[in-house]
Amino acid sequence: MAERTFILIKPDHVALADKILSEMDGKLEDIAERKATAHIPAVPRAVIEEHYAVHHGKPFYQYLVDSFVGNSVVASVYAGVGVVQRVIDLCGPTDPAQAAANTIRGRYSADSLEKAIAEHRPVCNVIHRSDSAAEAEREIAVWNDYLRIT
Ligand code: CMP
Repeated sequence: MAERTFILIKPDHVALADKILSEMDGKLEDIAERKATAHIPAVPRAVIEEHYAVHHGKPFYQYLVDSFVGNSVVASVYAGVGVVQRVIDLCGPTDPAQAAANTIRGRYSADSLEKAIAEHRPVCNVIHRSDSAAEAEREIAVWNDYLRIT
């Protein structure tokens, strides 16, 4: 069954967003299509708090939210059969130090979760992606005002 997934290129990698998205387009072209892309110049606090609501109360939540507020991001949606898992695999794990070199996080970040925890800051992992099709639909609704879904 066709499903959708949501991605967010994080503020410190916005300059590379076109390159990262066109690489993703190429790696997904057999199963999925990019449906929407939005450059958001200044993320409002309420939107990023809602986006990361699942992490509310975790030790890193406040500095994770603060790292987005007022900064630019690029949001996008892909649709296709099996796209949620394919994008999870393409991005690699949350910790870039554990990510293979051919994944987005392995290739574009030299950070590690260990360093980020020690320094009380969010791990620099380039991209957010949905965990499941249900979570993707929730996230797309959060960012809906910015997305132009075709
Ligand atoms: P993301 O996929 O955007 O989902 C939540 C984000 O929180 C995650 O990527 C990381 O950027 C960040 N994150 C998750 N766990 C930690 C942690 N223990 N310390 C710092 N940042 C974290």
